[in-house]
Amino acid sequence: MTRSLVLLPGDGIGPEVVAAADVVLQAVCRRFDHRIDTRRYPMGGAALRAGLTVYPDETRAACLEGVPVLLGAVGDPAFDHLPRDQKIETGLLALRSSMGVYANLRPARAWEGLEDATPFKPQRTAGTDLIIVRELLGGLYFGEPRGIAADGRSAFNTMRYSEDEVVRVARVAFALARGRSRRLLSVDKANVLETSQLWRRVVTALAADYPDVSLEHQYVDAFAMNLALNPTRYDVVLTENLFGDILSDEAGAVCGSLGLLPSASLGNGGALYEPVHGSAPTLAGRDVANPVGAIGSLALVFRHSWHGEEEARAIEAALARTIRDGHRTADLVSGRQTATSCSQFARLVAERV
Ligand code: IPM
Ligand code: MN
Repeated sequence: MTRSLVLLPGDGIGPEVVAAADVVLQAVCRRFDHRIDTRRYPMGGAALRAGLTVYPDETRAACLEGVPVLLGAVGDPAFDHLPRDQKIETGLLALRSSMGVYANLRPARAWEGLEDATPFKPQRTAGTDLIIVRELLGGLYFGEPRGIAADGRSAFNTMRYSEDEVVRVARVAFALARGRSRRLLSVDKANVLETSQLWRRVVTALAADYPDVSLEHQYVDAFAMNLALNPTRYDVVLTENLFGDILSDEAGAVCGSLGLLPSASLGNGGALYEPVHGSAPTLAGRDVANPVGAIGSLALVFRHSWHGEEEARAIEAALARTIRDGHRTADLVSGRQTATSCSQFARLVAERV
């Protein structure tokens, strides 16, 4: 069977972690006898440096073909001064919104063998296996009006959600919970925000369609604490865009490093996969990045875009074995442990696929 994957290596460590995922992809193709052609397109600072826009037309056209897209990372301090409409982050938001990917799945698991990497108490984090379902196309990231007052002395953003925006992402979370432990936690700030009051009302009403799923609500401040205190209590966690952004970084720390977290952004048709970490410019070009998030994102491509549960599990099992065998990148070493490079780590995973 022949399939295509669009690769957007992007900036900083993006090209290195995408190359690592590609090494693992080739191993999967050999083992399962697949043919998958990959095409690379410019995105972010890399596109700006090539004299293109931050989300060039040819990249957009490729991303809208209905083929899954794997993004490394975007972000480049050299372009931080640009006005908002030309900023790299704006390009990333344009990518997500053009693809219509409103449900961002961010699984976070505490890998066996990395118990000492978490800054939290390992006996509390061991066994963590949760998925944050982050709404990705609404809230403060996209709400209008927004801006900086003419005198530059005040600024404003708009947090806005419609019922439909809540329903569509909540359905993804309920369906996911059905396939897991049948527990769903919805995180909001309904004691203060009207958007959260609407969120809670809509999610609660929708629960009637999923009588087999037990629904709980928590305020975001309480959940931020509970995620640190008791991460194993949670399974599927549904929340709005900014809360999900913040909580997924915290989940990364719970597991030992943000570099470990993959993500899948799903919508009607299109699917965008990206590790949760950023471009980490200070690590770029040194072969020290952690490719687990990118390789894990490749597993999610198989799971969510290609009905490839078997391949997804093979990749995740190879990651688990590589980690259990004691290999870890620089972000995870402490004391006398030695770090494995990004490219070497990818080869070790590929051997185990
Ligand atoms: C993420 C990132 C992005 C976000 C930034 C780079 C715009 O932090 O994917 O979590 O806030 O969504
Ligand atoms: Mn983030």
